[in-house]
Amino acid sequence: METPVVRVGIIGAGTVGAALIDLLSDTSRVDALIDAAGSRLELVAVAIRDTTRVRSHIPAHLLVDSAEKIASDPTIDVVVELMGGTSVAHELITTALQRGASVVTANKALLALSGTALSALARDNATDLFYEGAVGGGIPILRALRTSLAGERINRVMGIVNGTTNFILSKMTSEGSEYASVLSEAQSLGYAESDPTADVEGFDAAAKVTILSSLAFGTALDGSAIYREGITKIRLADVEFATRNGYVIKLLGISERVGASAISQRVHPAMVAKGHPLASVAGAFNAVFVEGASSGPLMWLGQGAGGAPTAAAVLGDVVAAARNKVTKRFDVPFSVDTTLGTFPMGELQSAFYITLNVIDRPGVLSAVTSVFGDHDVSIRSMEQSGFGDEAHLMFVTHIAFESDVSATLVDLAKLEVVEEIGSCIRLIGVDG
Ligand code: NDP
Ligand code: HSE
Repeated sequence: METPVVRVGIIGAGTVGAALIDLLSDTSRVDALIDAAGSRLELVAVAIRDTTRVRSHIPAHLLVDSAEKIASDPTIDVVVELMGGTSVAHELITTALQRGASVVTANKALLALSGTALSALARDNATDLFYEGAVGGGIPILRALRTSLAGERINRVMGIVNGTTNFILSKMTSEGSEYASVLSEAQSLGYAESDPTADVEGFDAAAKVTILSSLAFGTALDGSAIYREGITKIRLADVEFATRNGYVIKLLGISERVGASAISQRVHPAMVAKGHPLASVAGAFNAVFVEGASSGPLMWLGQGAGGAPTAAAVLGDVVAAARNKVTKRFDVPFSVDTTLGTFPMGELQSAFYITLNVIDRPGVLSAVTSVFGDHDVSIRSMEQSGFGDEAHLMFVTHIAFESDVSATLVDLAKLEVVEEIGSCIRLIGVDG
């Protein structure tokens, strides 16, 4: 029997798109891909924005000057969207799905905003919308949640899901590097988003947590609010404090069941105890830690950003979509559990590291500590560095309610002796 051909069009040939084109052009892998896809994958078109730039790795006859041509071409079976952004990409994916093409994307920002509607559109048109590359770069966590863990009751998904920020925090920890210089290194390595604010302010991680939650718990992919803090306020002094005290600072994404019918979803930096499995995940690596009721703890580790690792995940989706095209089936997207509510952030509990710049004079410490006491926040330890106008206090609290810590910070800021509230970072893996 003749091998069926599945025609593939790629929109975007930047960091990830170019790496995918390299993988699809590898002649030594043709037979293996035919076996996996049950068809021969034929790359027929590549859309880019700047048609004047020389692209030595892309055969000139494949280049098209309009992404719309790929999205609407009825002869293209699988449309791979790797341009990013949430408006034009949304229109293109909609066009492709409406005509029954399979869509593969790594666009977490778009999925977190409109993934529920786009998945419904795919289902209504009996086609696939796959996005393994959107979370954890090369880590195959989404398919694991979709298939292997489909019958499992998952209680928590927690991870390091942004390569750029993990790269920055790791370099600050291991080399004492300043934040800004490491960010530009992460950008030049292709880890960062086109606007790196998405990485450093936690938007990218929040989008990924939203996607993980949808598959683990059935929460909607509709841009709903998720608690978010980035890493821009982390100073070298915080990193040094963590190192001295047996912690590593990580930007964590967490989604967990709290009580019978509520989910808490959040992204924030955390001081992770050095013995915790996530503490040793360094550089642009990501790790996702899943706790299932029957499976117990599971962890996936791998390169969370960069062209080649992400392209490997995207290619896996292209293969799966091609296989489905040939067998005339499609994978059922996740379903939304409308009974789940959002657990209020203020009711969560954690230990905290809090820093203050204060005027160093008699009575300051008692004024400051009484504010903690007024809000039932018990202090576990305190360090002072500097004197006079440079005095810097570093507190670690016992476990306290978020709402009480927030109220403490508000009242501390009102004290005349407090010049600045510095950092407020949660501790993970700490008892009491
Ligand atoms: P890049 O900025 O490197 O590449 C974007 C590509 O899209 C470029 O080739 C650009 O063209 C093209 N493009 C932009 N607008 C248009 C348009 N209107 N029509 C046609 N082509 C267009 O992005 P990345 O490869 O880094 O990221 C792509 C997607 O993958 C994003 O959604 C990102 O969030 C996601 N992602 C990225 C990862 C990474 O490590 N980089 C990892 C996981 C996901 P031109 O070359 O002419 O500028
Ligand atoms: N900018 C993202 C990161 C790319 O740094 O993790 C991978 O999704």
